[in-house]
Amino acid sequence: MKIRSPRNRTLTLHQREIENYAKHIRIIDKSIPIVDLENTIFENNFLEIADYIPSDSVDLIVADPPYNLAKKFGDLDFKKKKTDEYIEYVDSWMKQLYRILKEDGSIYVCSDWSTSTAIDLSLQKYFKVRNRITWEREKGRGALSNWKNASEDIWFATKSDTYYFNPDSVKLKRKVIAPYRVDGKPKDWEETSEGNYRLTFPSNFWNDITIPYWSMPENTDHPTQKPEKLIAKLVLASSKPGDFVFDPFLGSGTTAVVAKKLGRKYSGTEINREYLLWAAKRLEIAESNLSIQGYQDGVFWERNSFSEMNRTKTNKNAASEELFS
Ligand SMILES: C[S@@+](CC[C@H](N)C(=O)[O-])C[C@H]1O[C@@H](n2cnc3c(N)ncnc32)[C@H](O)[C@@H]1O
Repeated sequence: MKIRSPRNRTLTLHQREIENYAKHIRIIDKSIPIVDLENTIFENNFLEIADYIPSDSVDLIVADPPYNLAKKFGDLDFKKKKTDEYIEYVDSWMKQLYRILKEDGSIYVCSDWSTSTAIDLSLQKYFKVRNRITWEREKGRGALSNWKNASEDIWFATKSDTYYFNPDSVKLKRKVIAPYRVDGKPKDWEETSEGNYRLTFPSNFWNDITIPYWSMPENTDHPTQKPEKLIAKLVLASSKPGDFVFDPFLGSGTTAVVAKKLGRKYSGTEINREYLLWAAKRLEIAESNLSIQGYQDGVFWERNSFSEMNRTKTNKNAASEELFS
C-alpha cells in the first residue's frame, strides 16, 4: 500500500474490505432482466455482454470511454488507434447503447479534442446530437511544441425529439462582479452574509469544476476519474428521481455513486476489478453521505466559492430535498 500524507483523503481498501466489497460485484453471463441490472455493478467487458442487456431499458447513459490516446487502465493497455479504427471501435458500443436506451432517453459521451470527431460522427449515425459541453479542467501538462490540453468535451444526444431536460435543476450560483440595483434593490441577484450572488442558467461551457484530487474524499487512484459535480449536472438535467442511469465504462463508479446520491437507479460495467472495488466502497459510503462537493442547497457553486470549499457542511443537499419534497 502507498504511504500517503495524513491530509490525503484518497480512497483506500484494506484486505478485509476487498473481500467484503467483492461480494457486491456481479457478472453478466446471460440475458438479464432490468430488475437484476438495477443498483448493481458488473465486472464485464461491455462489448462482450451488451447483447444480454434488454432493449429500451435505460433512461440515461453516461459513457466515459477510453479516449483515442495511449493510456493504461490497470491491465488494459489502450493504444492510440488510427481515426477510422477508433471510429469502428466507438461504433461497436454506440449501436448497443442506442438499442438499450429508451425512446425518450438521453446520452452523454465524454471525449477530448482529438477523440471528439469520432464520437460526433458515431453519435450522429444513431442519435440526435443536441450539444457539446466544453469542460475547462485546468489540469494538464504544458508542452513546448503545442498548446496545453485544458479542456474536455461532453457530447449530449437523445434518441428522439421527446426527452426530459430540466435546466432549473442545474443552475450555477455565481458571485456578482458589478451589482446593479433598481430603486435601491438588487436586480437579479441576492445579498448574503457571504457575498452577492446571482443564479445563472447553465451554458455549454463549464469552468466551475476541478478534477478530483488528493484532498477530496471522492478521489481514488483511477487514472481518469470524473468529478462527481460534473456527473451530477448530467444526471440532474437529464433524468428524474427513480430513473435508471447506465454507464458502460464505469471506472471508479462516479456515475453510479452520483445516481445513487441523487435518488436514481444505477448500473454499469467495468473490466477492472480493483476499480469496481473502489466503486463498491464509494456506493456504500453514499448510503450515509449524500453530499456532492460543489452542489449544495439545490445549486451548483462556483469553483473555490465558500460553499464549494466548505466540505464540513451537512450532507443535506438538494438530492434529499428533491427526493422527499
Ligand atoms: C475513462 S475511464 C472511466 C472513468 C470513470 N468515469 C470514473 O469516473 O472513474 C474508462 C474506463 O473504461 C474501462 N473499460 C475500457 N474498456 C472497457 C470495456 N470494453 N468494457 C467495460 N469497461 C471498459 C477502463 O478500465 C476504464 O476504467
